[in-house]
Amino acid sequence: MRTPLIAGNWKMNKTHLDAIHFLGQLGHELGDHDHGKVEVAVCPPFTALRSVQTNIEDRRQSFRLGAQDMHWEAEGAFTGEVSPLMLKALKVGYVILGHSERRQHFGETDESVNKKVKAAFAHDLVPIMCCGETEGEHEANETEAKVERQVREGLDGVKPDDARNLVVAYEPIWAIGTGKTATPDDAQRVCGLIRKVLGNLYDQNIADEVRIQYGGSVKSGNTEALTSQPDIDGALVGGASLEAAEFAAIVRATKVKG
Ligand code: PGA
Repeated sequence: MRTPLIAGNWKMNKTHLDAIHFLGQLGHELGDHDHGKVEVAVCPPFTALRSVQTNIEDRRQSFRLGAQDMHWEAEGAFTGEVSPLMLKALKVGYVILGHSERRQHFGETDESVNKKVKAAFAHDLVPIMCCGETEGEHEANETEAKVERQVREGLDGVKPDDARNLVVAYEPIWAIGTGKTATPDDAQRVCGLIRKVLGNLYDQNIADEVRIQYGGSVKSGNTEALTSQPDIDGALVGGASLEAAEFAAIVRATKVKG
């Protein structure tokens, strides 16, 4: 059985002070939540990681910590970058890689995503590897081809024992921050395809262990329908993760499949 993962991608929002405040609210909202049933992660900007980490420890909370990107090298002359080693030292567990905003605005490619995915595993971090099609590709029926290519190239050379721990986030770009969501059936079709590709790349056992999230305008009102789909194991949540009550409602609406 795959434990669903609800991860909040804060993007470029919240100072470290806002983050501390938010964690207090989220702890209050989810006081009695069973983290063994639905895993909850927050992915703040780099500047808030340390504060969130110490807060989680001090309050003995079960939230998991994620970063939104990283470089693939452990150290070196890469001004402005943050390394897997640095994230690991902050007890970061997850790292979002290849988010469409990084691909679109910062030149991220399948090749750089692949380097980062391999570096994440080498440092014992779990990648949340993002994929998804643009509106134009969606309308031209190119979704499957695009997503299959992103998954194959992102995982090039990734060993089976690492791959089983992977998280994939399927995020149709036209659904991100737009209020438009893929229908549960459409999201399931693509997530099912991703699992099939993983089965071909590795084997069915490994494919069955990988968690596949849906992302793109997820909110408390559509979470249950999306996460009830057989191949959708949680959500990567942007805008709706910034408000503690709404994020908590998403966690509570997440379907736990037996
Ligand atoms: P959204 O963003 O929930 O605001 O659509 C999702 C994401 O970009 O991960």
